[in-house]
Amino acid sequence: MAGRGSFGMAALLLGLALLLLAPLHRHYPRCRVASVAATAPAAPAAPAEPAAPAAPAIPRNLTIAIFGGSTTACGGASSRDNCWTYVFGRALEALTNSSVTLINRARGGTEADYFSSCFPRYLSGPKPDLFLLEFAINGGNVTRLVESIYRHTDIPVALVRQMACFPASRYAAGDPTARVSWPEQREEQRTAGYVYRLHEFDLVNELVPYYGSPCSRESLPKLFETRIAPGQHLGDLGHRLLGEFVARELVRNWGAINNASRRAGAPAGSTERESCFYADEGGSSANSIETAFAPEGEGWAFVEKVPGRKDKICWQSAVPGSRLVSVAPVNFDRSTMYLEYSNRPAKLRVSCGPNAAPGGSETFSEITALHGMNGTMVKSASLNGQCHGQRLTVEALDAAPDRLARVCGISMFASG
Ligand SMILES: *[C@@H]1O[C@H](CO)[C@@H](O)[C@H](O)[C@H]1NC(C)=O
Ligand SMILES: *[C@@H]1O[C@H](CO)[C@@H](O)[C@H](O)[C@H]1NC(C)=O
Ligand SMILES: *[C@@H]1O[C@H](CO)[C@@H](O)[C@H](O)[C@H]1NC(C)=O
Ligand SMILES: *[C@@H]1O[C@H](CO)[C@@H](O)[C@H](O)[C@H]1NC(C)=O
Ligand SMILES: *[C@@H]1O[C@H](CO)[C@@H](O)[C@H](O)[C@H]1NC(C)=O
Repeated sequence: MAGRGSFGMAALLLGLALLLLAPLHRHYPRCRVASVAATAPAAPAAPAEPAAPAAPAIPRNLTIAIFGGSTTACGGASSRDNCWTYVFGRALEALTNSSVTLINRARGGTEADYFSSCFPRYLSGPKPDLFLLEFAINGGNVTRLVESIYRHTDIPVALVRQMACFPASRYAAGDPTARVSWPEQREEQRTAGYVYRLHEFDLVNELVPYYGSPCSRESLPKLFETRIAPGQHLGDLGHRLLGEFVARELVRNWGAINNASRRAGAPAGSTERESCFYADEGGSSANSIETAFAPEGEGWAFVEKVPGRKDKICWQSAVPGSRLVSVAPVNFDRSTMYLEYSNRPAKLRVSCGPNAAPGGSETFSEITALHGMNGTMVKSASLNGQCHGQRLTVEALDAAPDRLARVCGISMFASG
């Protein structure tokens, strides 16, 4: 992943360099560079000098949608008031005198891919002025999420970069391998930033060094929560710095973020057909995962995570070996499943076969999540392989009452 990311960056830099060296020789080989360069904004038409449009004002009613993982769900903060998103909202109101509405879509443990699937689910309700993405730790394909957003809306996107020093004990012990943790996650976000020229509000570069070197014995206890999962989440000071920093930078960069001529071109339309089954979010673009699957025998049940709440409901099993089978045949070349875990994750086997019978099916994936902490996590699992006109089976291999298996959504992509 990191290798692909740096290739993308090198290609982008080369593309920009080639733009400066234009015109290209017509025998110059066509390659990836050309397609990257093609997303650059058109150079201003030769002699015409149109007056620069004024920078847009910050709206009096400002709506900001945030996608992210546990830090954005307030992980590590001692109270809601100390959480970065609330600090950010208050700081932004103070700086702009606007009335700020935050639509916080964060879910603990999610990767960017969780949100890129079936993206129109998130477009019901008030239209945001900006999307903020905070996947600095959990990673996932942030580029794909940005493309999902830009295929459905022209609302600008900016990135929020924070950090983790987990497990803290490795950093405290000076373990040199701890220093290079999370490189892929950083690179995944960076790549999206380069490709789509997004503003990145980078707490790590801008502020963390003032508290000591990142993840050092000196800075870690100041910036991070150190009781429950030491080093995993920012603590109150880290949350406050992040919230104030993002508000300040957003105001300072509002014109540039909203400047259409600084944006990379919209992504090409997708050649894949997507079908989605979710129970949450209630958007019209997804079918219910409740009707997509049925348990085979005892074990799986469709449950509300919190009684009375309709937004987080999943198929759940505590019975080892129990099977959940798609009601109808499914179609995909690539698929993403959303699994929720509490504390100890169950191991799942996902397979596809004519009758989803044991032995007669192809195993796509055995999914194991590693946890360093308690709490509910959402994991997106990628299934690559052909499953056309067959049924899909999820088997909870080692589920138990303290090791629940939960299947909460699935997106399927078929080419053509
Ligand atoms: C928008 O960006 C272009 C290209 O960087 C710049 O020339 C122009 O002045 C910007 N417009 C505003 C209003 O900032
Ligand atoms: C802002 O929102 C309030 C309440 O929703 C509304 O009364 C007001 O007209 C809005 N103002 C603008 C400028 O849109
Ligand atoms: C802030 O907004 C309020 C209400 O919209 C207004 O009365 C006040 O003058 C504004 N303050 C500033 C500094 O713009
Ligand atoms: C991420 O998504 C983009 C856009 O869909 C795709 O081109 C790219 O190959 C993906 N990267 C990885 C590492 O899967
Ligand atoms: C998770 O919870 C269990 C049971 O409450 C506890 O024994 C364990 O120490 C917790 N783990 C962490 C990392 O907090």
